[in-house]
Amino acid sequence: MSQVQGRSYAYIFGLCERFINAKMLELSRDHWFGDQAALEALVRFSDEEIKHQALFHRIETMIGDAMPAGYQCTADANDVAHAVLGKSSWAVLALTCHIELFTQEHYRKSIAPDDSLSDLYKDVFLFHWREESQHAILDELEWRRIDDQLSEAERDAAVEDLIALVGAVDGILQVQARADVDYFCSIVPRRFTPAERFVLGAETLAAYRWQYIASGVQAPRFLQLLQELLDTSQQERIAEALAPLVAAV
Ligand SMILES: [Fe+2]
Ligand SMILES: [Fe+2]
Repeated sequence: MSQVQGRSYAYIFGLCERFINAKMLELSRDHWFGDQAALEALVRFSDEEIKHQALFHRIETMIGDAMPAGYQCTADANDVAHAVLGKSSWAVLALTCHIELFTQEHYRKSIAPDDSLSDLYKDVFLFHWREESQHAILDELEWRRIDDQLSEAERDAAVEDLIALVGAVDGILQVQARADVDYFCSIVPRRFTPAERFVLGAETLAAYRWQYIASGVQAPRFLQLLQELLDTSQQERIAEALAPLVAAV
């Protein structure tokens, strides 16, 4: 099951890189005739995300070569990107910052200290982490720049967008968790009781919610940024909306 989860981990990252890259290319327009260092930073950011998509696709395919048929990637990168990019830049940058911060949390806390992981898998996430740690800084700079341009009403609407985006992420996780458990049960040469399947489903969803939601929204830097950019009632709205997802972990 951990190997199925490892495959989904690589696949879901590759999925996120699609909308992150498109948003960075869009934002780079604001710097075309301005700060050339900022423009260069976003161009390199974009270049790295295209590389990461290839990296994750390659590792996911390699894992797939060693696994029985039937594994499902349940969401399409372009469909997800179209849905995400329909929301305000403020919300997309908040979601991106959260993703790029939790990438670092995962590497430091779970991947680096685990000697039982495949060396290649570890290496992929080491090099990804190095670049993501720079992306997280750029996310923050762009997020603050966009935030400065918003009226109070626009910021308030952006908070709703962010809540909707996290809800959409949860929708993807629910479907992928179910598919991963079904796949696992189909390839393991023993039958699971309904009670065992129920536990497998609940634990897998909890693990995915921890990875893609809780570990990011609880990252100290992310909480600090929300505190700086939002008023108390806006922060409370986010905390309230995410409470069931975080508590389920
Ligand atoms: Fe990346
Ligand atoms: Fe990144």
